[in-house]
Amino acid sequence: MSKAAAVEARDEERDGVRTVRLRIPAKAEYITLSRLALTGLAKVSPIEEETLADLKLALTEAVSNSIRHAYANGSGHVEIAYALSSTRLEIEVFDDGRGFDPERPLAIEGEELTEGGLGIAIIRTVADELEIESRPGVRGSRLRLVKQLRLA
Ligand SMILES: Nc1ncnc2c1ncn2[C@@H]1O[C@H](COP(=O)(O)OP(=O)(O)O)[C@@H](O)[C@H]1O
Ligand SMILES: [Mg+2]
Repeated sequence: MSKAAAVEARDEERDGVRTVRLRIPAKAEYITLSRLALTGLAKVSPIEEETLADLKLALTEAVSNSIRHAYANGSGHVEIAYALSSTRLEIEVFDDGRGFDPERPLAIEGEELTEGGLGIAIIRTVADELEIESRPGVRGSRLRLVKQLRLA
């Protein structure tokens, strides 16, 4: 067993908002867990299948960014907070890694096309609201997306 819990989850319900907080190691194999938490929440308060699929994609992109870009050697953690009410889902993804400039236009020129650079664009397409707080040279990033829901 490791000396500290690798994964932590907390769950509370207040004023009709169900909140789940998940803290995972910044490693690719934990991305599935962040998606599973969303699947679990959607069971409590059904989200349309297509919306759920979109949200999982956006979540995967956001968590992948924290894992791939924020930390140099996979040593950090990523925290995800899901807040679900009957009308909206808010997902926040936090890391404590290298910050970046969210305004930076997609650098396609001079970069390998295989690098992608589509993650944030995908998240923006899926979300009704998207907020990214990060600065180059300052530790930590926070991404917050909101999806308005029509319940299934
Ligand atoms: N959590 C993060 N920490 C540090 N840098 C990030 C983070 N999220 C995004 N970035 C930066 O923003 C860029 C664009 O992200 P994205 O649109 O997902 O494209 P990609 O991940 O394919 O490069 C990344 O290449 C990276 O430089
Ligand atoms: Mg990405």
